[in-house]
Amino acid sequence: MTAATLGEGFVDIAAVKDLAPGTATYVDVDGVDIALVNVDGTIYAINDICSHAEVSLSEGEVEGCLIECWLHGSRFDVRTGEPTGPPAVEPVDTYAIKIDGEGEEARVLIDINQEATNG
Ligand code: FES
Repeated sequence: MTAATLGEGFVDIAAVKDLAPGTATYVDVDGVDIALVNVDGTIYAINDICSHAEVSLSEGEVEGCLIECWLHGSRFDVRTGEPTGPPAVEPVDTYAIKIDGEGEEARVLIDINQEATNG
C-alpha cells in the first residue's frame, strides 16, 4: 500500500528502522520543519522549531517523552507539544502519525494538517 492510497492527507516520510529509540530526526514536509521522535519504539511528530527562539529542537537531547531545547533548556512533551518549564511558554504543534507495515518494512506517515491525539 502506498501513502497515496491511504488518503486523508497522510504522506510517507521515513522508515521506522531509521529512527533510533531515544533520538529525534529532522524532516521537511512541504516546507514545514518536523522533528520525529522515537520514544521506546513509539514515534511522535512535533514542530521542530522551539517556540521560544526558533532553534531546531531535533538537535536537542531526548529523555523519555521530553525533548530539550539545546539553546536555553526548555523541555517539551512530545506527546502534547507543551513546554514543561521556562523560558518557553508556548507549545509547539504536534502532528498525526500512522505506521504502515511492520518490522523492517514499517514506514512513518504524517498528516501535517492534523494534530496528534496523544493526549
Ligand atoms: S530557544 Fe528554545 S528555550 Fe530558548
